[in-house]
Amino acid sequence: MPLKYDLELREMDKFYVTTPIYYVNDKPHIGHAYTSVAADVIARFKALDGYAVHYLTGTDEHGQKVEKSAQKFGKDTQDFVDEVSVNFRKMHEDLHCSNNDFIRTTESRHKSFVQDIWRKLEQKGYIYLDEYAGWYSVRDEAFYQESELIDGKAPTGAEVEWVKEESYFLKLSAFQDKLLEYYQNNPGFIMPESRLNEVVSFVSSGLQDLSVSRTSFKWGVPVPGNDKHIMYVWIDALFNYISACPDKWPCDLHIVGKDILRFHAVYWPALLMALDMELPKRLFAHGWWTNEGQKISKSLGNVLDPYDLIDKFSVDYLRFYLMREFPFGNDGNYSEASFINRINAELANNIGNLTQRTVTLYIKKVGENFAPLQPDQLQSKDKEILAAITHAASNMRAHMDSQKLQQAIGEAISLGNAANEYIDECAPWAEKDEARRQVVLQVLLNVIYGIGVLLQPFVPESAAKILAIFGADGAVQFEVLSGDMPLNNNSFNLQKPQIVFSRLER
Ligand code: MSP
Repeated sequence: MPLKYDLELREMDKFYVTTPIYYVNDKPHIGHAYTSVAADVIARFKALDGYAVHYLTGTDEHGQKVEKSAQKFGKDTQDFVDEVSVNFRKMHEDLHCSNNDFIRTTESRHKSFVQDIWRKLEQKGYIYLDEYAGWYSVRDEAFYQESELIDGKAPTGAEVEWVKEESYFLKLSAFQDKLLEYYQNNPGFIMPESRLNEVVSFVSSGLQDLSVSRTSFKWGVPVPGNDKHIMYVWIDALFNYISACPDKWPCDLHIVGKDILRFHAVYWPALLMALDMELPKRLFAHGWWTNEGQKISKSLGNVLDPYDLIDKFSVDYLRFYLMREFPFGNDGNYSEASFINRINAELANNIGNLTQRTVTLYIKKVGENFAPLQPDQLQSKDKEILAAITHAASNMRAHMDSQKLQQAIGEAISLGNAANEYIDECAPWAEKDEARRQVVLQVLLNVIYGIGVLLQPFVPESAAKILAIFGADGAVQFEVLSGDMPLNNNSFNLQKPQIVFSRLER
């Protein structure tokens, strides 16, 4: 017979999710906000679904690109990175991200960790000294082969320079077959699948050893035992995922942009294999935003500042739009018109109005006369819409586990649409039979409460407003959606709702 206290003794399942650490060469833009909100939505969902979550983000502060930016702004490099890093930390707070930690690669906990790692790689014979001669792009902090250049530039369009200097190398070539075998045996390691194909074709075309140190500038982690060299910024940066929280490794999910997939899907697993360390469970590469149809770039002057969007529209509306506008993994386009349409259609008209109408009608027409719902009072359409709450929750879980964030939030929207059809069909405002009217309104309140629970990872502040109508003064676990009725005949002493989703005007 299972022991009663088994459940309580069971350790909570862990879930560890990361964003890339951001270069501190300039202020945060929409791309950074996108990656961090996506990680936050997943982190919040997992926490509400019973996991012990660790969400890590931070700043990547070494390398030539950052050093050059400091010079451009006429600042001391350390002062400069201190300043810019604060902006990124603040961006996470202002976007209501729930990160548990914020790592900076200039912190000593990180530097000493990567120096230890370097020694281990050397002891294992994976690092050797030679000379590098080849192309380097400071903007991408990446080495390119001659054959990769397009019209004398990196495939990303970045300028490249010829570098010739003494350098340590990582024996990356030793990992070509092991990597290919790993990708093959671990479907789901690289997502979406189209990205996997890109990685496989890159690795199959042949891996050369990787230059992992530089001598021509100083802003980085010194190579132990030879401080003429500093470590290649990507080697330094990738290990943030472990240096920040060694006890949490392996990571369940690295969220990265498509532009930095190669570093995460090739160099990172090879380094971990070299060290006999566990690999992360999954890398998910998301796409890029354009602005009103144009590539976002500083030279075009069309960089989208997350703060402008927060000021104009609110944090929750920005978070919702970013997650909802196009499938996570695809590229997509920002436009003010699509922003306004989406918020008005899916939040204000759909869920906002439904909440307002139902709660107001309930308070006016039922209020004190509340009588608990009896199962035999339910008609089939009532049962159907109540069952849709549980379905929406389990569909959302499945979408979340495959990072289909647009579809995940879509479950809450569809439930709202179904509830709007139900209210129109049942017309509780015109119902003559008081008992029936009460049943319909209580069913609707259960659905609205369910929507509030489902919305929490995406629009935490607005979801809290919905849940507060029912007296909740904190997060509500997804578990409440697994029963027949989330409100369970409780919490019918409703608070008058504040406007949850106001309409946006053009
Ligand atoms: N420092 C490296 C990551 C090291 S991780 C060990 C880096 N930093 S970054 O600041 O340049 O970029 C961080 C993220 O922003 C990347 O995931 C990148 O894809 C994302 N974006 C930058 N511009 C973007 C858009 N226009 N749209 C969406 N995301 C974009 O790379």
